[in-house]
Amino acid sequence: MNVLIIGSGGREHALCVSCKKSENINKIFCIPGNAGTNLIAKNISIDVNNFEKIINFVKKNEIEIVIIGPEKPLVDGIVDNLEKHNIKTFGPNKLASKLEGSKIFTKKLCDKYKIPTAKFGIFKNSNDANNFVEKCNLPIVVKADGLASGKGVYICNERDEAINAIKEIFDGKFGLAEELLIEEFLDGEEMSFFIISDGETYLPFGTAQDHKRVFEGDRGKNTGGMGAYSPSRLENDNLNNKIIKKIINPTLKGLKDLNANFKGFLYAGLMIKNNEPFLIEYNVRMGDPECQTILPK
Ligand code: AMP
Ligand code: GLY
Repeated sequence: MNVLIIGSGGREHALCVSCKKSENINKIFCIPGNAGTNLIAKNISIDVNNFEKIINFVKKNEIEIVIIGPEKPLVDGIVDNLEKHNIKTFGPNKLASKLEGSKIFTKKLCDKYKIPTAKFGIFKNSNDANNFVEKCNLPIVVKADGLASGKGVYICNERDEAINAIKEIFDGKFGLAEELLIEEFLDGEEMSFFIISDGETYLPFGTAQDHKRVFEGDRGKNTGGMGAYSPSRLENDNLNNKIIKKIINPTLKGLKDLNANFKGFLYAGLMIKNNEPFLIEYNVRMGDPECQTILPK
Protein backbone atom coordinates (compact mmCIF):
# COMPACT_ATOMS: atom_id res chain seq x y z
CA MET A 1 0.00 0.00 0.00
CA ASN A 2 0.95 3.65 -0.36
CA VAL A 3 1.44 5.79 2.75
CA LEU A 4 1.48 9.54 3.30
CA ILE A 5 3.33 11.07 6.25
CA ILE A 6 2.52 14.67 7.20
CA GLY A 7 5.29 16.77 8.77
CA SER A 8 8.86 17.96 8.31
CA GLY A 9 10.86 17.00 11.40
CA GLY A 10 13.29 14.34 12.55
CA ARG A 11 10.16 12.57 13.82
CA GLU A 12 8.79 12.25 10.31
CA HIS A 13 12.16 10.96 9.07
CA ALA A 14 12.05 8.26 11.78
CA LEU A 15 8.47 7.40 10.73
CA CYS A 16 9.62 7.06 7.09
CA VAL A 17 12.52 4.79 8.08
CA SER A 18 10.14 2.51 10.02
CA CYS A 19 7.55 2.42 7.23
CA LYS A 20 10.27 1.61 4.71
CA LYS A 21 10.99 -1.65 6.62
CA SER A 22 7.48 -2.98 6.00
CA GLU A 23 7.00 -5.35 3.08
CA ASN A 24 3.37 -4.17 2.89
CA ILE A 25 4.31 -0.62 2.04
CA ASN A 26 4.88 0.29 -1.53
CA LYS A 27 5.33 4.06 -1.93
CA ILE A 28 5.91 6.58 0.88
CA PHE A 29 5.06 10.25 0.36
CA CYS A 30 5.85 13.11 2.74
CA ILE A 31 4.13 16.50 2.94
CA PRO A 32 6.31 18.54 3.03
CA GLY A 33 9.12 16.27 4.36
CA ASN A 34 12.77 17.30 4.67
CA ALA A 35 16.18 16.53 3.14
CA GLY A 36 16.33 13.21 5.03
CA THR A 37 12.86 11.99 4.08
CA ASN A 38 13.62 12.82 0.44
CA LEU A 39 16.21 10.02 0.42
CA ILE A 40 13.64 7.33 1.29
CA ALA A 41 10.27 8.84 0.36
CA LYS A 42 8.93 11.36 -2.13
CA ASN A 43 8.59 14.87 -0.73
CA ILE A 44 5.54 16.79 -1.89
CA SER A 45 5.31 20.53 -1.53
CA ILE A 46 1.78 21.16 -0.22
CA ASP A 47 0.91 23.42 2.72
CA VAL A 48 0.04 21.10 5.66
CA ASN A 49 -2.80 23.48 6.58
CA ASN A 50 -4.45 23.02 3.18
CA PHE A 51 -6.60 19.96 3.89
CA GLU A 52 -8.42 20.15 0.56
CA LYS A 53 -5.20 19.87 -1.45
CA ILE A 54 -4.01 17.03 0.79
CA ILE A 55 -7.27 15.13 0.25
CA ASN A 56 -6.96 15.55 -3.53
CA PHE A 57 -3.38 14.34 -3.43
CA VAL A 58 -4.35 11.27 -1.36
CA LYS A 59 -7.11 10.32 -3.82
CA LYS A 60 -4.92 10.80 -6.92
CA ASN A 61 -2.06 8.73 -5.56
CA GLU A 62 -4.09 5.83 -4.12
CA ILE A 63 -2.81 6.42 -0.60
CA GLU A 64 -4.33 3.98 1.90
CA ILE A 65 -3.31 5.60 5.14
CA VAL A 66 -2.15 9.02 6.30
CA ILE A 67 0.11 9.29 9.34
CA ILE A 68 0.09 12.75 10.93
CA GLY A 69 3.31 13.76 12.72
CA PRO A 70 2.85 17.26 14.20
CA GLU A 71 0.20 18.67 16.53
CA LYS A 72 -1.09 21.66 14.59
CA PRO A 73 -2.96 19.83 11.80
CA LEU A 74 -4.33 17.37 14.41
CA VAL A 75 -5.62 20.16 16.63
CA ASP A 76 -7.08 21.86 13.53
CA GLY A 77 -9.02 18.70 12.65
CA ILE A 78 -7.13 17.13 9.73
CA VAL A 79 -8.29 13.65 10.83
CA ASP A 80 -12.00 14.61 10.79
CA ASN A 81 -11.52 16.12 7.32
CA LEU A 82 -9.75 13.07 5.89
CA GLU A 83 -12.21 10.63 7.47
CA LYS A 84 -15.13 12.48 5.89
CA HIS A 85 -13.62 11.31 2.59
CA ASN A 86 -13.19 7.73 3.91
CA ILE A 87 -9.42 8.11 4.09
CA LYS A 88 -7.77 6.03 6.83
CA THR A 89 -5.70 8.03 9.29
CA PHE A 90 -3.27 7.44 12.10
CA GLY A 91 -3.84 10.25 14.58
CA PRO A 92 -6.58 11.54 16.90
CA ASN A 93 -9.59 13.57 15.77
CA LYS A 94 -10.15 17.22 16.66
CA LEU A 95 -11.97 16.54 19.93
CA ALA A 96 -9.37 14.05 21.23
CA SER A 97 -6.59 16.43 20.12
CA LYS A 98 -7.83 18.98 22.66
CA LEU A 99 -5.68 17.03 25.12
CA GLU A 100 -2.79 18.97 23.57
CA GLY A 101 -4.68 21.88 22.00
CA SER A 102 -6.11 23.13 25.29
CA LYS A 103 -4.26 22.81 28.57
CA ILE A 104 -7.43 23.92 30.36
CA PHE A 105 -9.47 21.12 28.73
CA THR A 106 -6.90 18.61 30.03
CA LYS A 107 -6.83 20.13 33.52
CA LYS A 108 -10.63 19.92 33.74
CA LEU A 109 -10.46 16.29 32.64
CA CYS A 110 -7.82 15.62 35.34
CA ASP A 111 -10.11 17.20 37.91
CA LYS A 112 -13.16 15.18 36.87
CA TYR A 113 -11.36 11.82 36.65
CA LYS A 114 -9.02 12.36 39.65
CA ILE A 115 -5.85 12.18 37.55
CA PRO A 116 -2.79 13.28 39.58
CA THR A 117 -1.51 16.66 38.35
CA ALA A 118 -0.33 20.01 39.75
CA LYS A 119 -3.00 22.00 41.64
CA PHE A 120 -4.31 24.76 39.39
CA GLY A 121 -6.57 27.74 38.89
CA ILE A 122 -8.19 29.06 35.70
CA PHE A 123 -8.40 32.84 35.33
CA LYS A 124 -10.43 34.96 32.92
CA ASN A 125 -8.77 38.33 33.58
CA SER A 126 -5.45 39.74 34.76
CA ASN A 127 -6.87 41.32 37.94
CA ASP A 128 -7.99 37.99 39.37
CA ALA A 129 -4.82 36.26 38.18
CA ASN A 130 -2.57 38.95 39.71
CA ASN A 131 -4.44 38.85 43.03
CA PHE A 132 -3.98 35.09 43.14
CA VAL A 133 -0.24 35.42 42.42
CA GLU A 134 0.14 37.88 45.34
CA LYS A 135 -1.10 35.18 47.74
CA CYS A 136 0.50 31.95 46.50
CA ASN A 137 3.80 30.23 47.20
CA LEU A 138 6.73 30.51 44.75
CA PRO A 139 7.80 29.23 42.30
CA ILE A 140 4.57 29.30 40.33
CA VAL A 141 3.81 28.26 36.75
CA VAL A 142 1.76 30.44 34.38
CA LYS A 143 0.51 28.88 31.13
CA ALA A 144 -1.24 30.00 27.97
CA ASP A 145 -4.12 27.65 27.13
CA GLY A 146 -3.49 26.83 23.45
CA LEU A 147 -0.61 25.64 21.26
CA ALA A 148 2.49 27.79 21.69
CA SER A 149 5.37 25.62 20.37
CA GLY A 150 6.66 25.05 23.90
CA LYS A 151 6.89 28.81 24.58
CA GLY A 152 3.61 29.38 26.46
CA VAL A 153 4.85 28.07 29.83
CA TYR A 154 6.44 30.46 32.33
CA ILE A 155 8.17 29.01 35.39
CA CYS A 156 8.25 32.03 37.72
CA ASN A 157 10.54 32.34 40.73
CA GLU A 158 9.41 35.92 41.44
CA ARG A 159 5.92 37.45 41.62
CA ASP A 160 6.93 40.11 39.06
CA GLU A 161 7.75 37.42 36.50
CA ALA A 162 4.32 35.86 36.99
CA ILE A 163 2.59 39.24 36.63
CA ASN A 164 4.55 39.88 33.43
CA ALA A 165 3.61 36.42 32.10
CA ILE A 166 -0.07 37.09 32.81
CA LYS A 167 0.17 40.40 30.94
CA GLU A 168 1.92 38.85 27.92
CA ILE A 169 -0.62 36.06 27.65
CA PHE A 170 -3.68 38.32 27.99
CA ASP A 171 -2.06 40.82 25.57
CA GLY A 172 -2.22 38.06 22.94
CA LYS A 173 1.40 36.89 22.65
CA PHE A 174 0.09 33.39 21.85
CA GLY A 175 -3.12 34.46 20.16
CA LEU A 176 -6.42 35.62 21.63
CA ALA A 177 -6.52 34.51 25.29
CA GLU A 178 -9.86 34.33 27.11
CA GLU A 179 -8.43 32.29 29.97
CA LEU A 180 -5.08 31.27 31.37
CA LEU A 181 -3.84 28.65 33.76
CA ILE A 182 -1.80 29.09 36.94
CA GLU A 183 -0.27 25.96 38.44
CA GLU A 184 1.61 24.84 41.48
CA PHE A 185 5.28 24.09 40.66
CA LEU A 186 5.95 20.35 40.69
CA ASP A 187 9.28 19.15 42.00
CA GLY A 188 10.80 15.93 40.68
CA GLU A 189 12.21 14.42 37.52
CA GLU A 190 10.50 14.46 34.14
CA MET A 191 9.72 11.43 32.01
CA SER A 192 7.84 10.96 28.73
CA PHE A 193 5.48 7.98 28.49
CA PHE A 194 3.93 6.82 25.21
CA ILE A 195 1.07 4.62 24.13
CA ILE A 196 -0.12 3.55 20.67
CA SER A 197 -3.83 3.07 20.05
CA ASP A 198 -6.19 2.06 17.23
CA GLY A 199 -9.11 3.71 19.00
CA GLU A 200 -10.30 0.42 20.53
CA THR A 201 -7.35 -0.89 22.49
CA TYR A 202 -3.87 0.38 23.24
CA LEU A 203 -0.37 -0.75 24.08
CA PRO A 204 2.38 1.02 26.01
CA PHE A 205 4.94 2.29 23.49
CA GLY A 206 8.02 3.06 25.59
CA THR A 207 9.44 5.91 27.60
CA ALA A 208 12.00 8.62 26.89
CA GLN A 209 13.80 11.55 28.38
CA ASP A 210 14.26 14.62 26.26
CA HIS A 211 16.57 17.55 26.81
CA LYS A 212 14.86 20.84 26.20
CA ARG A 213 17.38 23.57 26.99
CA VAL A 214 19.60 24.91 24.24
CA PHE A 215 23.45 25.22 24.55
CA GLU A 216 26.02 22.95 26.18
CA GLY A 217 25.36 22.33 29.87
CA ASP A 218 21.64 23.22 29.62
CA ARG A 219 22.46 26.94 29.81
CA GLY A 220 19.88 28.28 27.33
CA LYS A 221 16.15 28.64 26.95
CA ASN A 222 13.66 25.79 26.58
CA THR A 223 13.22 24.47 23.04
CA GLY A 224 10.96 21.77 21.59
CA GLY A 225 13.78 19.31 22.35
CA MET A 226 17.54 19.24 21.62
CA GLY A 227 18.00 15.47 22.02
CA ALA A 228 16.55 12.45 23.77
CA TYR A 229 17.24 8.94 25.00
CA SER A 230 14.99 5.94 25.55
CA PRO A 231 14.04 4.30 27.87
CA SER A 232 13.87 6.89 30.63
CA ARG A 233 16.20 5.96 33.48
CA LEU A 234 13.19 6.25 35.82
CA GLU A 235 11.24 3.46 34.11
CA ASN A 236 10.22 0.45 36.21
CA ASP A 237 7.24 -1.95 36.19
CA ASN A 238 5.72 -0.55 39.34
CA LEU A 239 5.81 3.01 38.00
CA ASN A 240 4.50 1.90 34.58
CA ASN A 241 1.50 0.27 36.26
CA LYS A 242 0.77 3.42 38.26
CA ILE A 243 0.98 5.59 35.12
CA ILE A 244 -1.44 3.31 33.29
CA LYS A 245 -3.87 2.98 36.17
CA LYS A 246 -3.86 6.57 37.49
CA ILE A 247 -3.24 8.57 34.31
CA ILE A 248 -3.68 6.77 30.97
CA ASN A 249 -6.81 4.70 31.68
CA PRO A 250 -8.86 7.50 33.28
CA THR A 251 -7.85 9.86 30.42
CA LEU A 252 -9.04 7.40 27.76
CA LYS A 253 -12.23 6.82 29.75
CA GLY A 254 -12.76 10.60 29.96
CA LEU A 255 -12.41 10.90 26.19
CA LYS A 256 -14.71 7.94 25.61
CA ASP A 257 -17.35 9.60 27.80
CA LEU A 258 -17.13 12.55 25.36
CA ASN A 259 -17.49 10.14 22.41
CA ALA A 260 -13.88 10.62 21.38
CA ASN A 261 -11.80 7.48 21.03
CA PHE A 262 -8.09 8.16 20.96
CA LYS A 263 -6.29 6.85 17.88
CA GLY A 264 -2.57 7.34 17.25
CA PHE A 265 0.32 8.04 19.61
CA LEU A 266 -0.46 9.61 22.98
CA TYR A 267 2.50 11.15 24.80
CA ALA A 268 2.16 11.89 28.50
CA GLY A 269 4.67 14.40 29.87
CA LEU A 270 5.07 13.40 33.51
CA MET A 271 6.80 14.60 36.65
CA ILE A 272 7.94 11.71 38.83
CA LYS A 273 8.39 12.26 42.53
CA ASN A 274 9.21 9.37 44.88
CA ASN A 275 8.11 6.90 42.18
CA GLU A 276 4.68 8.64 41.92
CA PRO A 277 3.58 10.08 38.55
CA PHE A 278 1.94 13.50 38.02
CA LEU A 279 0.68 14.63 34.63
CA ILE A 280 2.28 17.85 33.36
CA GLU A 281 0.85 17.81 29.85
CA TYR A 282 -0.37 15.64 27.00
CA ASN A 283 0.85 15.62 23.42
CA VAL A 284 -1.36 13.86 20.90
CA ARG A 285 1.51 12.63 18.72
CA MET A 286 5.02 11.22 18.91
CA GLY A 287 7.66 13.48 20.43
CA ASP A 288 10.35 15.04 18.31
CA PRO A 289 13.18 14.08 18.95
CA GLU A 290 11.85 11.22 21.15
CA CYS A 291 10.49 9.44 18.07
CA GLN A 292 14.03 9.00 16.77
CA THR A 293 14.98 7.03 19.89
CA ILE A 294 11.79 4.98 20.28
CA LEU A 295 10.96 3.79 16.74
CA PRO A 296 14.37 2.21 16.03
CA LYS A 297 13.84 0.03 19.12
P1 AMP B 1 4.47 21.91 29.00
O1 AMP B 1 4.47 22.62 27.67
O2 AMP B 1 3.20 22.01 29.79
O3 AMP B 1 5.07 20.52 28.92
O4 AMP B 1 5.59 22.65 29.85
C1 AMP B 1 6.92 22.75 29.37
C2 AMP B 1 7.86 22.41 30.47
O5 AMP B 1 7.65 23.27 31.61
C3 AMP B 1 7.69 21.00 31.03
O6 AMP B 1 8.36 20.04 30.27
C4 AMP B 1 8.26 21.16 32.41
O7 AMP B 1 9.69 21.14 32.35
C5 AMP B 1 7.87 22.56 32.80
N1 AMP B 1 6.63 22.56 33.60
C6 AMP B 1 5.36 22.72 33.14
N2 AMP B 1 4.46 22.69 34.15
C7 AMP B 1 5.17 22.51 35.29
C8 AMP B 1 4.82 22.40 36.67
N3 AMP B 1 3.56 22.51 37.09
N4 AMP B 1 5.82 22.23 37.57
C9 AMP B 1 7.12 22.15 37.14
N5 AMP B 1 7.51 22.26 35.87
C10 AMP B 1 6.55 22.43 34.94
N1 GLY C 1 10.23 16.93 22.56
C1 GLY C 1 9.04 17.42 23.06
C2 GLY C 1 7.88 17.32 22.17
O1 GLY C 1 7.91 16.71 21.11
O2 GLY C 1 6.84 17.88 22.53
